[in-house]
Amino acid sequence: MAKVLVVYYSKTGNTGRLADQIEQELVAAGKEIEKIRLAEEKDHSFLRDALRALFRVKGKIKEANFNLEGYDAIFFGTPVWAGSPAPALNEYLEECQGLEGKEVSIFVTYGSGLGKGRAMRMLKEMVERKGGRVIQKLAVQEKEVFKKVELKIVR
Ligand SMILES: Cc1cc2nc3c(=O)[nH]c(=O)nc-3n(C[C@H](O)[C@H](O)[C@H](O)COP(=O)(O)O)c2cc1C
Repeated sequence: MAKVLVVYYSKTGNTGRLADQIEQELVAAGKEIEKIRLAEEKDHSFLRDALRALFRVKGKIKEANFNLEGYDAIFFGTPVWAGSPAPALNEYLEECQGLEGKEVSIFVTYGSGLGKGRAMRMLKEMVERKGGRVIQKLAVQEKEVFKKVELKIVR
């Protein structure tokens, strides 16, 4: 059975809710799924988080599985922070192994929508730098994260 990994960071839960919706769709499509919610070692203020994201900081994250070898498809999710992905996901994408040739889906949640295209482009570039192939992108406004998502079903 195809095994799908969903790796995401969520500070206030919105991206986590979207990850849950994605999980439901994948399960309904008969996929075996694992989810990793990244956690930063330290908590930072709103302003610091925005600046860290803007300057593409890689946040120190708690221990996580960085080995992607055993999965057929991967999803990466993050909130949009200052038009950028969150530092925890930057760090994960730097450290992970085995993304080469994999089908990758990226998802973001956002507030106003300012910079969401930029954040997704940055995320796509990071995935491609590690050899992943981005096959779909989802961007959901924070108020819409409880809604059912339409997914292109992965391998
Ligand atoms: C530090 C910070 C920076 C943010 N910057 C943006 C932004 O540039 N554009 C935007 O549309 N929303 C921005 N937001 C709103 C978040 O993207 C939105 O609330 C998101 O759903 C939070 O996800 P989470 O609950 O998974 O942490 C920002 C939120 C925070 C905390």
